[in-house]
Amino acid sequence: YQVTWDIDSAEKEGFEHFTLKEIFEQPKAIRNTLFPRLDKNNDIILDGIKLTKEDIEVFDRVYIVACGTAYHAGLVGRFAIERFAGIPVSVEVASEFRYRDPFIDDKTLFIAVSQSGETLDTLAALREAKRKGARILSIVNVVGSSVTRESHDVLYTWAGPEIGVASTKAYTTQLIAFYLIALYMARLTGKMPENQYHQILDELKGIDKKVEAVLKKADVCKAMAMLQKDNTSVFFMGRGVDVETSFEGSLKYKEISYINSVAIAAGELKHGTIALIEEGTLVMALATQERLFDKMCSNMLEVKARGARVVAIAQEGRTEIEKYASEVFYIPRTMDELAPILSIIPLQLLAYYVSAARGNDVDKPRNLAKSVTVE
Ligand code: G6P
Repeated sequence: YQVTWDIDSAEKEGFEHFTLKEIFEQPKAIRNTLFPRLDKNNDIILDGIKLTKEDIEVFDRVYIVACGTAYHAGLVGRFAIERFAGIPVSVEVASEFRYRDPFIDDKTLFIAVSQSGETLDTLAALREAKRKGARILSIVNVVGSSVTRESHDVLYTWAGPEIGVASTKAYTTQLIAFYLIALYMARLTGKMPENQYHQILDELKGIDKKVEAVLKKADVCKAMAMLQKDNTSVFFMGRGVDVETSFEGSLKYKEISYINSVAIAAGELKHGTIALIEEGTLVMALATQERLFDKMCSNMLEVKARGARVVAIAQEGRTEIEKYASEVFYIPRTMDELAPILSIIPLQLLAYYVSAARGNDVDKPRNLAKSVTVE
């Protein structure tokens, strides 16, 4: 009797694809990235970052530069740094940044975000910023990679190896890294009241459990996917930081399902995209931001009135959304600011199940590479 097994399926630990395994690893990846950086008093200890209060007070602008999914994490990073630490932030795709003569001097903090630490455009942008005198901080997953070697400060995401080309656990851990940096800066410079600081950190410390709760409802996403798998297009929309989640949700969807996907700020609907809405058009509506909830409902109504099939993501308890959407995925209640960590999970799962149902090579989508080391 011979036991037959292969390394590939052993490494997938029972999951059909690495992408799905990595989606399910997110609670652990988040814990590994977050908890080693916190002490028992909720003080943030950023090993590898030597920024002092004086350094931070000198910065008059922050550039966040990255590609692909890491760029979307940067968009959430902008939101967190501006909201928590009160420093103006620009986020740019690396391939554009380096050809644009950006305003950089020794008062600039440049943050590079990269899972692999080897993306050529990101590395080239970093070198340009460094040459002009910026302080270089990087958020990277691969230890010792090129980006880390050329940075002044490094904050590692401890997501573990990511095999699936579509980035999942690297993204959510990049978000954790940004929340840590934003809170660290806010506290050091006295921009945030102590009670608010502790409130946000306490919520962050429980977010892994809420991610687990979302993952327990993977079947809901699977059922949604079965209704979507034959679509030819999908639209994502949101307001506030849900716009950033819409971009990332849309990227996940298109890159592994091969279905044309477009993401917009819901407020931009009237400026063009609504012309494409007709009977049966699929619209994914992100409505996790309590402050903007009513405005999102009006946008859903606008597309629903034109025949769209609206699928919404909202916080638990917001059942009035069912008036505007034919299906709703509820995420556990959280602060608006931290919702991006939870709201991306159903979108990752949805993209995964649509892709798998279409028989695509989920882990290695056609024409894509895990790390783009050419221009
Ligand atoms: C490629 C990958 C994406 C990734 C992007 C940036 O396009 O397929 O998953 O987000 O590169 O890669 P990086 O390693 O710099 O985060």
